[in-house]
Amino acid sequence: MKELKILVVLIIFTFITYYGIEPFAHTQMNPYVAPANFDMEQEDIELADVKIKEAQKALTSAEKIEATQEQQKALDAAQKDLDAAEESFASYKGLWESVKEIKALEGNATMGNEIFSMTCISCHGLKSQGFEPPFDDALSSEAYGVVVPDLGKAGAIYDKNFLAALIINPVHALKLGHKFNDEEPFPMTEFFGFGGDLNQEVADIVAYLQSVATQEEVSGKEVFEDACLRCHDLKYDNLLRSTEQTALEGYMGSNPPDLSMMIRARSAEYLKTFINDPQKNIPGTSMPRVGLNEKSQNNLISYLEQVGDSKKSERTTLGYYLIGFFIILSVLAYLWKNAVWKELH
Ligand code: HEC
Ligand code: HEC
Repeated sequence: MKELKILVVLIIFTFITYYGIEPFAHTQMNPYVAPANFDMEQEDIELADVKIKEAQKALTSAEKIEATQEQQKALDAAQKDLDAAEESFASYKGLWESVKEIKALEGNATMGNEIFSMTCISCHGLKSQGFEPPFDDALSSEAYGVVVPDLGKAGAIYDKNFLAALIINPVHALKLGHKFNDEEPFPMTEFFGFGGDLNQEVADIVAYLQSVATQEEVSGKEVFEDACLRCHDLKYDNLLRSTEQTALEGYMGSNPPDLSMMIRARSAEYLKTFINDPQKNIPGTSMPRVGLNEKSQNNLISYLEQVGDSKKSERTTLGYYLIGFFIILSVLAYLWKNAVWKELH
């Protein structure tokens, strides 16, 4: 009976540690980050709002510092952050208001083709429709700091509203306003229109991109090749990034890591919060928002799991076998102990 009590106490403590203490410690060490919100309007406005609140808080605490030169410095810095946060909030509001208007329009793919072939192809290829990329990888790396992606599958990989936002304001759609501005222009230029109604033209381009992305389903590997491979290696699947390293480092300010082991180093949950809005996990990072739709993101994460953690299901099964083995062993040990002690009494 005593052994049973010890076992019960042991189980209770294990449960408390596993389901109580460990998750609590985790939340303290890594603050909660909301998972991807594929309604990108809501995602951006909520984050911009959080930034305003943080800046207001910093301003309030700066006001409490004793009135010295130090205080003035802190006040000025906090006020500057607050102004920037409010400006960012207003521009996201404006951007997504325009996207709302574009969303309500019916795009015309034929018109879109015409506009695309007069504007976007000065940088992008779309091989499946006969538009060869204007530069090879080496030249593109040199000219833009990054290989400009082929857009054959873009209509299926990226969220439709994200594409509209990207065309009218690449820097904001990619969330790189802290890095690119008038002095340091982003390599993808804004689309200012082709002479007609700007919103209609954007809707047409998006309709065109969707019309040429005819594949039923884009696999995780294809998503990686089109959306990540220009910056990241995936050596475990023999994929080496297309952009030349020095150019990319100059462009990004850092060397984007190989993603082979990322699923184990950071977990699938982390990737789900990260890819759609990297600024939430690493404020100030130069990695752009990727803008995948939900299906592409899920396929991509399964693919990364397959490449980086192919033994996961084997490990889980082995875990169950081990637990079974220890249960049987405990029962046998208990029975054996009883048998031995009976003879001794
Ligand atoms: C002056 C060159 C240039 C023009 C013109 C241009 N782009 Fe781009 N585009 C780029 C570059 C460079 C990138 C890669 C940026 C990066 O990875 O940081 C890019 C990236 C993209 C992406 C991928 C975004 C993502 O989330 O990964 C899409 C989609 C795209 N462009 C669509 C378009 C469309 C549609 C047009 C025409 C309206 C267009 N681009 C015009 C240079 C250009
Ligand atoms: C235009 C280049 C670019 C593209 C495209 C890009 N990344 Fe990145 N990525 C970066 C850079 C730069 C970093 C390093 C960020 C840092 O340390 O601030 C990074 C870091 C990461 C990290 C590590 C985050 C961490 O916590 O350390 C992951 C995971 C990642 N990227 C996933 C992806 C995935 C998945 C895609 C495609 C869907 C992608 N990236 C597309 C540039 C890019």
